[in-house]
Amino acid sequence: MQETKLKIAVQKSGRLSEDSINLLKRCGVKFNNGLGKLKSEAENFPVEIYFLRDDDIPEYVADGVADVGIVGENVLTEAGKSVDSIEKLGYGKCRLSLAVPKNFAYDSLKDFDGKRVATTYPKILSAFFAENKVNADIHTISGSVEIAPSIGLADAVCDLVSSGSTLFTNGLREVETIMQSEAVLIARKNLPDDLRMILEKLLFRIKSVKAAKENKYILLNAPNENLAEIIALLPGMRSPSVLPLAENSWSSVHSVVNENDFWEVVESLKDKGAEGILVLSIDQMIQ
Ligand code: PRP
Ligand code: ZN
Repeated sequence: MQETKLKIAVQKSGRLSEDSINLLKRCGVKFNNGLGKLKSEAENFPVEIYFLRDDDIPEYVADGVADVGIVGENVLTEAGKSVDSIEKLGYGKCRLSLAVPKNFAYDSLKDFDGKRVATTYPKILSAFFAENKVNADIHTISGSVEIAPSIGLADAVCDLVSSGSTLFTNGLREVETIMQSEAVLIARKNLPDDLRMILEKLLFRIKSVKAAKENKYILLNAPNENLAEIIALLPGMRSPSVLPLAENSWSSVHSVVNENDFWEVVESLKDKGAEGILVLSIDQMIQ
């Protein structure tokens, strides 16, 4: 009997490809993603990976060609397919924005009235304009949106922005954000139980990798007289480990800190006399 495998669709080449492949690899899924491969079977986990154009992923998942997929929320919203959103993945962060040429005197959304706006996101954009009562002319094109104004095809654009360098090099200025986006794991509706079990197993690993990325392992030496205050700064997973140092009246403290408040915690620790602070990245964090 053939083993049941979960079919996962990931972007073949583009903003999410590398991070998606790395995520699966950090989840311990071994597979070959050699150049030009369309499909790959994992050696040690019951999954099959399909490398596809990102815009096609929602449809493939909705139709059951793939069971799950990793796609940007922007692409998912635009596709408007009926799938389950399972987990945000914390990478591929970008925003869908309206941008105008530098010499466009922009004041408010009303300035888009009667203007031609080029985009590859016509559904999201028309919903946004309708909601804000803007009467613009949406020009749907299939790529290279950023050059549309300079070749006279449009007065403005609606496109993805992450670093902003594409807009900048094309003389465009971001004026409104329509939506924020990041990579998300999606699944087809009514996934059969055997496949759902594989997905749950994969999801458990994904959450461990995500948690690890958001946290740092911290080790430091603390003077015993300030130990209580230092421990209070470091909640850790349960509570910090404290070991006596060979030198009297000092202890070694080990804990986990969240990346978001990391620098503030380090500064407070130093204020309390902590020394020899070491910070390490974490591979996996099982919660
Ligand atoms: C987007 C967008 C811009 C670029 C912006 O394309 O169309 O070209 O990224 O990024 P930046 O602000 O960092 O310069 P993407 O790579 O997502 O390709 P696709 O839309 O063709 O799939
Ligand atoms: Zn795309």
